[in-house]
Amino acid sequence: MTAPTPLIAGNWKMNGLADALGEARRVAAGLSGTAARVAICPSATLIQRMSAALAGSAVMVGGQDCRAEISGAYTGDVSAEMLADAGANLVILGHSERRAGYGEADELVAAKVVAALRADLEPIVCVGETLAQREAGEALSVVTGQVRGSLPAALAGKAFSVAYEPVWAIGTGLTPTTPQIEEMHRAIRATLSEMFGAAADTAAILYGGSVKPSNAAEILHAAEVGGALVGGASLKAEDFLGIIGAI
Ligand code: PGA
Repeated sequence: MTAPTPLIAGNWKMNGLADALGEARRVAAGLSGTAARVAICPSATLIQRMSAALAGSAVMVGGQDCRAEISGAYTGDVSAEMLADAGANLVILGHSERRAGYGEADELVAAKVVAALRADLEPIVCVGETLAQREAGEALSVVTGQVRGSLPAALAGKAFSVAYEPVWAIGTGLTPTTPQIEEMHRAIRATLSEMFGAAADTAAILYGGSVKPSNAAEILHAAEVGGALVGGASLKAEDFLGIIGAI
């Protein structure tokens, strides 16, 4: 099996004005010989400026969501083509804040993944259980079900990653134990193999949820963890570089 190249992606969520581009520049300047691919996913309004600011650097730029349609009467929405046109290389899809806040179900996430591929964007597809689901012993079935429902057949042979983000670990400072992370990542890997065969061996399975410099090494070295999706700690270059340096 070809090991996936690790990916460390920063999810800036709804944070960052023009002056935050300096942080992105500091990330690019601070990268030294990392084995990981590195990306920052700012708000849609910053994508074009961040792509220009990071041109020629090793840091890729991504979106945080897209509409499945190419264009049309969808006030306020952004298509995958628009993200790519602004300079994005990747896009986060199915984040739990979108699943919970906007009622995005697996089928919609899968349609957005197809849109991303159409626009040559590499999707980062998020999955994760709530605390109630974990306490009910349903974490594995919920997450593997999300993987099956959110990843369309069109991904076969394409570059993509899956981010396992337990909802209860996002922005809370709580993280699963290393055995819990490894159990889930192995289950996701097995599901990907069933769905796509060896074609998915190069897909990285990222962990996300309260990753910070102090816990990054343990998480990133856990079995089947192929990188991280980082929220709060990606907003400061020093913290994000500390996480990247732990790979
Ligand atoms: P967090 O967010 O690192 O702030 O917990 C992760 C995410 O939502 O992707």
